[in-house]
Order: sequence, then C-alpha cells, then structure tokens
Amino acid sequence: MFGKRQNQSNNNKGTNGLYQHGNEELIHLRQVDKIFNTAAGKFPALKNVDLRVDAGEFVAVIGKSGSGKTTLVNMIAGIDRPSSGEVLVGNTAVHKLNEGQMAVWRGKNLGIVFQFFQLLPTLTLVENIMLPMDFCNVHKSGERRKYAMDLLEQMEMADHANKLPAAISGGQQQRVAIARALANDPPILLADEPTGNLDSKTADSVFQLFEDLVKRGKTIVMVTHDNDLAKRVTRAVQIADGEIIEKHLADVFPVLTSEQLIAFTRRVDPEKYAPGSAILRRGEPVHHFHVILKGNVSILVQQADGTEQVVAKYGRGQYFGEIEMLRGGNSMATVRADGDIPVEVLRFDRDTFNQMVEQAPELKKLIAGVVQERVTENTTTRKGASK
Ligand SMILES: Nc1ncnc2c1ncn2[C@@H]1O[C@H](COP(=O)(O)OP(=O)(O)O)[C@@H](O)[C@H]1O
Ligand SMILES: [Mg+2]
Repeated sequence: MFGKRQNQSNNNKGTNGLYQHGNEELIHLRQVDKIFNTAAGKFPALKNVDLRVDAGEFVAVIGKSGSGKTTLVNMIAGIDRPSSGEVLVGNTAVHKLNEGQMAVWRGKNLGIVFQFFQLLPTLTLVENIMLPMDFCNVHKSGERRKYAMDLLEQMEMADHANKLPAAISGGQQQRVAIARALANDPPILLADEPTGNLDSKTADSVFQLFEDLVKRGKTIVMVTHDNDLAKRVTRAVQIADGEIIEKHLADVFPVLTSEQLIAFTRRVDPEKYAPGSAILRRGEPVHHFHVILKGNVSILVQQADGTEQVVAKYGRGQYFGEIEMLRGGNSMATVRADGDIPVEVLRFDRDTFNQMVEQAPELKKLIAGVVQERVTENTTTRKGASK
C-alpha cells in the first residue's frame, strides 16, 4: 500500500542527508480533539491538532510531561481514537477501522517502540521478533526465523538470539524491541520515548539506529524528552497542553512562512508563571522574547514618585520583551502574571529572536511598529502621571 511512496522517499534529502520537503504526505491528523472523561470531569488532552508528516520524515514530538505526546502517538497508532477529527495514514482513515481491521492494519503498516521495551519475558529474543510475523502473513512461515535473525544481525544482537530478555541489558532489549517493530517491514515507525530509560551513550546508539532506518526510507515519529536528540531530526513538533505550538506562532506571526514556523518552533521554550509572580523585573536583564499563550499579564512602569503603575495589560497572542531584544538594555518595565490561573508563555532566546527578525523582514516591520506604539504609550502615561 505504501510501496510507491517508499520508493520516492530517498529523493528529497538535503546535503546533510536529512529530509527536505516534497514527498507525498503519509500521516495527516486533521482537527483532532481528544477528551478524556475523568473523575474531575472532562479533560481535553488534545485540542484541534493538525499535523502532517511526509513519507521519509523523521519527526520528534517534544513537550513537557502530561502535554499530550503519548495521546498524540496513540491516535496515529490507532491505540486510542479521537473524540473528533480525522486520522489519515496513507489511504486509510484509521479512526474508522474496527478492532479487527485495526489489528491487521497496524501489524502491516506500523512498528511501535515503547519506553519500557515490553518484550515477552518467556520467549527468546528471536521468538519475540517472530511473534508479530505470526499475526500478519507478510513473510511465509518457513522464512520467518531467517528474517528475524537478519533483523537481529542488523541490530548487532544475533549472538544473543536464543537468550531470554532478562539476560541482556536495557539498551540491548531496546535494540531487540526495534527489531521486533520492524518484523513486518512497516513503512512507519512510532516510538514513545524510546531512549527515556537508557543512559545517554546507549540512547545515542539507539537514536543512530533510527537515523539509519530513515536513510533506508522509513518514516519515524518519535516522542522524546531529550532536546539534544530532538535537534538531530528533520522536524520537531512542540506540544503544550494538548496543542501544537506551531499553530500559535502562525496565529501571532502570520508573516512567517511555514518553513520559518517549523524552524523557530523547534527553538521555543514554553514556560508557566504562577499568578502574581514577576515574569520580568524592571532594571533586570532580559534574556527572552515572550509570546503569551494563556492568561494575562500587567505591564508596570515606574512613576516619578517611585511607585509602579500598570500602563498596559496584554493577553493571548500578544508579546513582550521585544524592545529590549531590539535595542538592548535592561527591562524597561515589570511584567507580572495576572488573574488566578498560571500564565503560559513561549520564550525565544535572543539568538532565535534575532534570526527571526533577520529572516523575516515583514516580521521586523510588524514588531518595530508595535515597539513604536508602546514607547509612545508608556511615555504618555508617564507624563500624565507626573503632572
Ligand atoms: N486514559 C486517560 N484518562 C484520563 N486522562 C488521561 C488519560 N490518558 C492521558 N490522560 C491525561 O492526558 C494528558 C496527556 O497525557 P499524555 O498524552 O500521556 O502526556 P505525555 O505523554 O506528554 O506525558 C495528561 O494530563 C494525562 O493525565
Ligand atoms: Mg507519554
């Protein structure tokens, strides 16, 4: 079913071997919502998620614990279904498959790798790999053991084929779990924190295996906590509170191209501030440009009599810190989280901010206009107050 797409996927590599755009779309989540019913009421774990992954891409899904990463991957895997919206993989509407169809479809099209390996403890390694083959008739029964041994060979685990999982290390178990995920030669690999339980050296070698698989034409979606690994994939999708951040940036900065959005999304840092806390303090250095995702902030400026007065309030989609980013210097104002819910912001460090305005002259114009307005606003308020 994916044969044609697989053949194409080697054609669009950049000079560093990573995927560029231009392949056919393989995974498409369209306006996906996932609401869990909990004792405390309805909990939205995914909100209006749109995600497209082309054949041959290596995508990392990153975000804090509880942000919805596993829920997202489970949508693609058909392990869980959306409350509304569509999940399309190749020509298949995954959300419409019944349980029986789902198992067959998944067995042929997806390899899934989990954080805790999940090898069956009573089967040998080679038997663990043969197990998924027995569910799908991709390989003839007489050829399964040889194919499983070939996969173990690729993972440099052939010498251990007849051991039980308990007899090998965590890193080795994860290699075998990857071999198992590849048992039916699926075009797509989904991995949920596959390196989360490994030391950094072992994590790196597992990651290299994924890189090799992408070079051989597989499409990989990998949840990871590890920002260093996330920098090495073709694309990182940031998720915060069930929403894909790229979409927020697109709303706030409609002048950015989708390539720019993707590039800058990779480098944002979502942060929460408790109600009443100071996000910036007047006179202190500003290290970030902030875009508000949720909640409201007050901008306080010092008056002639030494007191601080609220000169403006900003909410979702507005930003602050740009004056100090553009002109340098310490914070001109104190910025405080208002209300009774935490204020959530996306933070961009100075280098990223500078690159954004350099690469997008339209954005620079837009922000310069806002700066001008705000400086005038602050000066007017201050003059008014000191009269
Ligand atoms: N089956 C479930 N029932 C209720 N809430 C759930 C369920 N699964 C996940 N959640 C909630 O949805 C949110 C996202 O969970 P998850 O996708 O596992 O996050 P992540 O993988 O990013 O840590 C969390 O707040 C979690 O508690
Ligand atoms: Mg998770």
